[in-house]
Amino acid sequence: MSGNTNLIIFDTTMRDGEQSPGASMTKDEKLRIAKALERMKVDVIEAGFPASSNGDFEAVRAIANTVKDSTVAGLCRANDRDIQRGIDALKGGKSWRVHTFIATSPIHMEKKLRMSPEQVLEQATLSVRYAKNACPDVEFSPEDASRSEPDFLCRVLEAVIKEGATTINIPDTVGYAVPQQFGEFIKNLRERIPNSDKAVWSVHCHNDLGMAVANSLAAVMIGGARQIECTINGLGERAGNTSLEEVVMAVRTRSDFFHLATRLDATQIVPTSRLVSQITGFVVQPNKAVVGANAFAHASGIHQDGVIKARQTYEIMTAEDVGWSTNKIVLGKLSGRSAFKQRLKEIGIELDSEDAYNKAFQRFKDLADKKADIFDEDLQALVAQEAGAATEEHWALVTMSQASGMGERPHATVVLSEAGEERKAEAQGDGPVDATFKAIESVAKSGAELLLYSVNAVTQGTESQGEVTVRLAKGGRVVNGVGADTDVIVASAKAYVSALNRLSSKMERLNPQHQL
Ligand code: KIV
Ligand code: ZN
Repeated sequence: MSGNTNLIIFDTTMRDGEQSPGASMTKDEKLRIAKALERMKVDVIEAGFPASSNGDFEAVRAIANTVKDSTVAGLCRANDRDIQRGIDALKGGKSWRVHTFIATSPIHMEKKLRMSPEQVLEQATLSVRYAKNACPDVEFSPEDASRSEPDFLCRVLEAVIKEGATTINIPDTVGYAVPQQFGEFIKNLRERIPNSDKAVWSVHCHNDLGMAVANSLAAVMIGGARQIECTINGLGERAGNTSLEEVVMAVRTRSDFFHLATRLDATQIVPTSRLVSQITGFVVQPNKAVVGANAFAHASGIHQDGVIKARQTYEIMTAEDVGWSTNKIVLGKLSGRSAFKQRLKEIGIELDSEDAYNKAFQRFKDLADKKADIFDEDLQALVAQEAGAATEEHWALVTMSQASGMGERPHATVVLSEAGEERKAEAQGDGPVDATFKAIESVAKSGAELLLYSVNAVTQGTESQGEVTVRLAKGGRVVNGVGADTDVIVASAKAYVSALNRLSSKMERLNPQHQL
């Protein structure tokens, strides 16, 4: 397989990415991300962990039944029950994969699994056999492979390939690997295992030492791996996983070195990054490669001068290549509904119903009254609020105001409507946002804990909308609310009310980690 120049991109944003504390998603959110990944032409989408909860089972099933242009995978522990749940969730799909795993490092086998190496070998073999009976496409991962004994790993991998595993994925579960050594580790495994050429070799790296991308690329270049598992914005357990956008753009920009091709549509990278950030509430750091707000900004005079004279002096790829819009004004106050709908289509946004378009268009008109120039990013923020809204709106923000000044304690007044009945409240707080949230809470009395409050400027300049994410937790449920407005305090109130509506609706956030 090493002669193959095709690099398979396996996205695990909705499985490993979802394991980041606070990044759990609802079924509808997962479906939106899955559609964006399919549009981006990701080869394999790992949709979740079907045996972890009924909610995740349903999400994986919905994604498998919807996605047609990417393979949909589900993660299963190496036991018949988990694998059967995976098969049941995936089997309606056009192209699907069972991904099963068991730990192989001495510390995991002894302390976590309390199993002997021989038991692990048997369990791995039986599990792949079980999966293979129902599904031709089976991936096997020896968890904590980078800290496993090579001799034992060779025995396990040879056995599972014999049972029909078509992809062998080598995880650096704890982010311990270093590039040269990891590449050689994989090369060595492939050379020693007699049937290694019967499987595609893959890697799955965590970023604890900031080397996930480097380790993945070394595994490809030195080890001959041909699949990289990665996530949008590098989301994932602890310090995250290999970042999809960095791998894809490294391979593309340095094709002279890597000689590898992906089928990815890179112009979908930034819109998908924004979608994942909006849904999870994980803001992308400004200096993040490829998708950070400053990734293509040239602040120093020398750089600006160089770029004006010849772009290539300081730019190795263009912002447009990865889907940054050119910040051109796309719509304004006089734009009609069809121009609005057309622009949404052009930037890859599809709403479910005419009613959703009508509501989004009304929000657009309200925004255009306040903001002269509407950019693509404004449309994305506006639609994120629409799509993120709970189906039943228990609470609605009717009006609000706040007063603050130097040396004065901020004061907020809000009017909320609950099932059509208006309720007014006032509160003081440490800042205008704090006062506003206290006022809302004094009416709603949710008792929820605020886990996250984050603000992001949608476009550049002080006229930008602020996009706020509020994460609330109550009774084991965690919800995110998103709000956008040119007034950040109003955006904050909208986000808080949206989160309250989600808490009172039936929308389940799925986080496999909580169930296992
Ligand atoms: O990090 C890891 O080992 C994993 C495996 C289950 C692939 O996520
Ligand atoms: Zn992982």
